Amino acid sequence: MTTPVLELRGVSKTFYGQRVLSDVSFSIAPGEVFGYIGPNGAGKSTTLKILAGLITQYDGSVTIAGTDVKREPARAHALIGFMPQSCGFHAWRTVESALDLLGDLSGVPADLRKRRIPELLERFHLLDARTKKVKDLSGGMTQKLGLIQALLHEPRLLVLDEPLEGLDPPSRQLLKDVIRERSNAGTTVLFSSHILSDVEHVADRVGILNHGVVATSGSIRDLTRMFDLPTELELELSTAPADTAYLAQAGAAIEKRPGHWRITLPKGVDVAAVDATIHRLVEATLAGGGRLRRIGVAEPALDDLFAHYILDTNRAGAGRGN
Ligand SMILES: Nc1ncnc2c1ncn2[C@@H]1O[C@H](COP(=O)(O)OP(=O)(O)OP(=O)(O)O)[C@@H](O)[C@H]1O
Ligand SMILES: [Mg+2]
Repeated sequence: MTTPVLELRGVSKTFYGQRVLSDVSFSIAPGEVFGYIGPNGAGKSTTLKILAGLITQYDGSVTIAGTDVKREPARAHALIGFMPQSCGFHAWRTVESALDLLGDLSGVPADLRKRRIPELLERFHLLDARTKKVKDLSGGMTQKLGLIQALLHEPRLLVLDEPLEGLDPPSRQLLKDVIRERSNAGTTVLFSSHILSDVEHVADRVGILNHGVVATSGSIRDLTRMFDLPTELELELSTAPADTAYLAQAGAAIEKRPGHWRITLPKGVDVAAVDATIHRLVEATLAGGGRLRRIGVAEPALDDLFAHYILDTNRAGAGRGN
């Protein structure tokens, strides 16, 4: 097995006696994109600040590419590019000079800064704003500045706290493209969000944090299985079959719109059974005079998974009398 780029083991944190993180453990493989999901106040930013060395008092251990963050903070710091949830820049500096200073502090040599800063400004459509004062930037532009400073020294591990927050739709797409590009080039990415549908299309794996506990992590597919959500099939029909009794026989519920059917299979149906059902469905639809344009398994939205998880956890909590 490859050594993880990031490994958290039993990380716990209390603020003034209040437990904010409780025995958080997960690891991320090289090049992987990990979405760290949780509702407001779950402890996402606290976790990311621990990784970035901004919080130093905690229990448990964090290693970045084998370097312990507590024992060798400077070495760990050099491996990580961190975008905090709200970035503090010198308001009176220009965009260029603010980035130049931060690049210098991250150990990027002057000649590289000279090349990379305009490249990144251009990528994020900020080149025209390079001589503007930081205080005169819009919210989204400041957000992009935070991203650029995190990318500047081409870190092994990119840690972004709510990077999509406040960005317009094209900028969000651009950032997602940049994250995928970096990941393809070998950078490991951890980013937090509660915009679940965004994470869905960019993260290889997600970890769900609730009240300071990572209860589950895995690919979207793993989570679907774990949560035992019903499998849904989508059909697009140019002609509907006359008889749909075969669906009722399979125990399936059907929702019909003109030309579109959504079929919900009973819970707990395994992959082989789904395949067999699709097969029967196609045969029966054609035999009944129907004509199919498209058929497929509908992937559940991450929002649905998340809602199920939060609901189940709260129910379990209520069951314990909490
Ligand atoms: N410096 C601090 N002092 C005291 N409590 C803190 C401090 N920082 C965070 N907390 C508390 O820790 C809990 C988790 O906060 P955190 O900022 O990690 O949540 P989050 O998951 O990032 O939430 P959001 O989605 O709103 O950004 C909250 O209850 C918060 O009040
Ligand atoms: Mg936060």
